[in-house]
Amino acid sequence: MKRTAVKGDLVMGGAPDLGLGGAALQRCIESLHLIRALAPEVTLVFSAFLLLCSLGCSRLPDVVVAKFPNQLPKPTAYGAALVESSGGKQTAEVGTPLAQPVVVQVNDEQGNAVTGALVVIRGPNGTYLDPAASLTDSSGQFTTNVSLGTIAGRYQLVASTTTKAGKTVELKVEEIGLGYQEMVGSQLNDQYCARCHNQESTPQRVSNYDNLEVRPHPFTEGETLNKMSDADLTAIIAHGGPALNKSSLMPPYGYTLSKSDIQALIAYIRMVSDPPNGAPGIVYAKK
Ligand code: HEC
Repeated sequence: MKRTAVKGDLVMGGAPDLGLGGAALQRCIESLHLIRALAPEVTLVFSAFLLLCSLGCSRLPDVVVAKFPNQLPKPTAYGAALVESSGGKQTAEVGTPLAQPVVVQVNDEQGNAVTGALVVIRGPNGTYLDPAASLTDSSGQFTTNVSLGTIAGRYQLVASTTTKAGKTVELKVEEIGLGYQEMVGSQLNDQYCARCHNQESTPQRVSNYDNLEVRPHPFTEGETLNKMSDADLTAIIAHGGPALNKSSLMPPYGYTLSKSDIQALIAYIRMVSDPPNGAPGIVYAKK
């Protein structure tokens, strides 16, 4: 038995015959016509909207790419100072994660670790911090995994916490992102130079440093290396120590390495020097 829905009926189950004929159908057709008539304007407005969106996107956002908890956790305690525990001054290829996490600690006025203090960390555009904020753990520490952006340079990360009085305390941690040329230099350093210029031995390489009568400098020693011009560096690397009236324990590499190899080594030496060399392309965190 067929029954037509009438006003006031609660329609349950199967598709009811609502009797779409007459006025309702007419209105439906009319609105379709209206949309068709409006279409050019609608399209125009829509494309303008898309254009604005893409413009908005191409302007790099000032915010750091970071993994924030949905809501900043509420601190249960406040500290007076922030100190670096580990993870600063690492070098990594741009766009890749640092080998070690960055760990900072919140202390109170007496220097005791504070649990439950909020630490927020930020860095230059493109830096990925996971997490970018959280409460300090039971040993007063905040640990975050860091991936550097795509530009070669020094990356300044700024960690901050708030004191009970509402004052912001900041700590700067610096990391180094190596671009293609510096990566080539870094590999050449591992292959040819580090055994004499790096005091530390690794399982793959025993340091020769302590056996040398004249001690070479680690390439991070900006105090010495920043005083040498690119021409000086090229001369000593290509022709050995005597080229600069230095010890012949520094061998010549002019036959082993190409010009671009030597340039790559210099780019690497400039990038890792501490204090910084003032080389171009230094990236610092936005305030
Ligand atoms: C066999 C050991 C040895 C190796 C390998 C070596 N060096 Fe040296 N290098 C020295 C010594 C020793 C000096 C210090 C000379 C002096 O002060 O009289 C030196 C000095 C230098 C200096 C001048 C700054 C400084 O440290 O005093 C530069 C730059 C340098 N070396 C670059 C390189 C590069 C680049 C490589 C790899 C391509 C390399 N060295 C490989 C032993 C070495």
